Amino acid sequence: MYIVACKNTKGDPSPTAIITPTNPTDNTSGNTTNPSTNNCGNATSNVAKGDSVCFNTQILPFFVSNCATSGCHDAKTRADGYEFTSYAKIVQKGITAGSPSKSKLYTVMIKTDEDRMPPAPSQALSKVQTDMIAKWITQGAKNVDCAVVVDTQNVTFSKTILPLLATNCLGCHKTGSISGGVNLESYASVKIYVDNKRLSGAINNLTGYSPMPPIGKLTDCQLAVVKKWIDAGAKND
Ligand code: HEC
Repeated sequence: MYIVACKNTKGDPSPTAIITPTNPTDNTSGNTTNPSTNNCGNATSNVAKGDSVCFNTQILPFFVSNCATSGCHDAKTRADGYEFTSYAKIVQKGITAGSPSKSKLYTVMIKTDEDRMPPAPSQALSKVQTDMIAKWITQGAKNVDCAVVVDTQNVTFSKTILPLLATNCLGCHKTGSISGGVNLESYASVKIYVDNKRLSGAINNLTGYSPMPPIGKLTDCQLAVVKKWIDAGAKND
C-alpha cells in the first residue's frame, strides 16, 4: 500500500528525480526556512521561548529530509496524498494538534511492522526524533519560527558541520537512503564531496549541480560557516 521502492538505496548515480537546477519551488515553498539570516552567530538571538519545538529549524528539516525524499512525499509524488514540504502541507492531514496518539503521522513512525514510516530499507527513526515529533504535536503542532543560530566563530566539523548535515541532509544521504549515491554520514565520505566540489556546487545552487537541499537553500549564514570550514582546509576537527 505504501510506496516502498522510493530511494536510491544502491547508490544509483543516475539523476532519478524531479530535482533540477531550476526547481521553481525552491524559493517560494520554503518560506519558513530563512527567517533570520542576520541572527547568525548571535547567541542571544531570537530562539524559541522556553521549551517550544521550533517548526522551521527542527520539524520542517526533519520532514523534508526523512519523508519528502524523491519518489515519496515530495511535491511531485505526494504518496498517499501526503506532501511534506511546508507547514500548511504538513499539518493538513494526519495531525491532531495536542494528541500524538491520534496523529497518524506520528503513529506510523513508531510502528514496528511493515506499515512503519519511513519504510524499509530506510532505518526506523530514532526515539529522539519521534519524541521530538510527539512533543511538537503535544504543544499544538504550531508554526513556531526560530532563528537559525550558528556559532560562526568556532567552526568545526564535529560541532558545526555534522549537526548541520544531520538536520538538513542526512535523511536523504545516509545508509538506507543514499540519494544520488551521495553518503554524508562520516567525515571521510563528506570529504569526497568537498574535494570534488559537488558539495559547494549543490548547496550554493551553482549551475551544473543539483540544488541541495531540494526544498530550498540553506541560510546565508549556514552557507558561510560551511565555506569557512572548507576554506580552513575542511579538517576533521
Ligand atoms: C529530500 C532529499 C534530499 C535532501 C534533504 C538533500 N538531498 Fe542531496 N540529493 C538528493 C537527491 C535525490 C540527489 C540526486 C539528485 C540528482 O542527481 O539530480 C542528491 C544529490 C546531492 C549531491 C550531488 C549533487 C551533484 O550535482 O552532483 C550532493 C553533493 C548533495 N546531494 C548534497 C546534499 C547536502 C549537502 C544536503 C543538505 C544541505 C542535501 N544534499 C540534502 C536528495 C536530497
